[in-house]
Amino acid sequence: MVNTQIEYDEMLSVLGRRLQSNAIRKLTLLLGSREVISLAAGAPSFETFPIEELAEISARVIRERGRFALQYGPTRGQVALVEAVAGILSSRGIENCKTSQIVMTTGSQQGLDLIARVILDPGDVAMVELPSYIGAIIALHNAQAQMIGVRQDDGGIVIGDLREKIERARADGRRVKCIYTIPNFQNPSGVTLADERRNQLIEIADEHDLLIIEDDAYFDLYFADDASRLVPLAALRPDRVVNLGTFSKVLAPGLRTAWLRAPEQLATKVELAKEGADLSSSVLDQAIVIESIRDGLIERRLPELRKFYSVRCAAMLEALDRFAPAGSRWTKPLGGFFILMELAGEADATAMLPAAIEAGVAYVPGQPFFVDGRGANTLRLAFSKESPEAIADGVERICRIFQNAMTQKA
Ligand SMILES: Cc1ncc(COP(=O)(O)O)c(C=O)c1O
Repeated sequence: MVNTQIEYDEMLSVLGRRLQSNAIRKLTLLLGSREVISLAAGAPSFETFPIEELAEISARVIRERGRFALQYGPTRGQVALVEAVAGILSSRGIENCKTSQIVMTTGSQQGLDLIARVILDPGDVAMVELPSYIGAIIALHNAQAQMIGVRQDDGGIVIGDLREKIERARADGRRVKCIYTIPNFQNPSGVTLADERRNQLIEIADEHDLLIIEDDAYFDLYFADDASRLVPLAALRPDRVVNLGTFSKVLAPGLRTAWLRAPEQLATKVELAKEGADLSSSVLDQAIVIESIRDGLIERRLPELRKFYSVRCAAMLEALDRFAPAGSRWTKPLGGFFILMELAGEADATAMLPAAIEAGVAYVPGQPFFVDGRGANTLRLAFSKESPEAIADGVERICRIFQNAMTQKA
């Protein structure tokens, strides 16, 4: 008799069993088809997509260069794009960047997945910020790394805490391999790493022979000119830092075009891992990005984008000032998409979410961003999607809910 009852769980690898859905996806399920003011979505506003320009560029690319743009391409990426990225990195102070150090990836998310798989064995330790980007937590989790969370304050990762935790892990016989950091306008906290801590981070990496994975997804989206002088970690110590950047936030995430810049030996390994993952990122998408760079489309729009998001951030900060319950605190971003709010005492942002959704507003509870399981009283508020008016309205509504819940508890 053939057994028709297939036990798929029995077929799974250790990794297959470990795979988990991410908290933001779960939230989407909770929302169903309900129309809400979304302070949850961490995506760029569709209003910023240069639709007409991209339609024209896409048609032109297919018509004039279709023979190449619709073909398979090199795993590392289109030569013209790799060269353009070397130019972008040089403008950010990462000098003498060779094209052999760059791999174009299908979003930075793929870069995170590939670098994690290339450098980490199961049980190796990756130091991450508390809180950190959920997509990186997932990539590190999938590589079966152990993550140790390091405290952040308004100046980013707390150097003393980092040092202490690395030393403790090593004393326990654990192999610490890397520090994953989002130095600028962090997701989910909005915090930016202070200048002096950048050098200290490099010193610690040197001392303990660690690799730094610098995820700089929001570099270009600063709100004031003094934040334009931010020095990438890769500019300070190129041979210890893997720099990830993306066109998602400044052009369109649907193009899934990003880069990973690493010391040459690591870039070669990433290229090999990528070959097994997808042969290459979409050649058509890369061709569209190349033309967008050549036409000056990205550069030209940056000042507008910065203004667009800074107005929304200001609207959120102002509404928090007016409506936040006493005892709560929140970050004051210099760029990016996010503010992290911390409620007083024992407040539970997950427990209050259904009431917020009932009141027509969604946010992301902070706990899943904290690898140490803390952060129950925090939430991520994204100002990227909604208009300034909707942001003010949404913040007022959730603050009322928080206030009520906290009053009832007291
Ligand atoms: C910090 C950070 N890194 C990486 C990504 C992924 O970006 P991409 O669209 O390039 O995969 C995001 C997207 O939200 C992000 O916030």
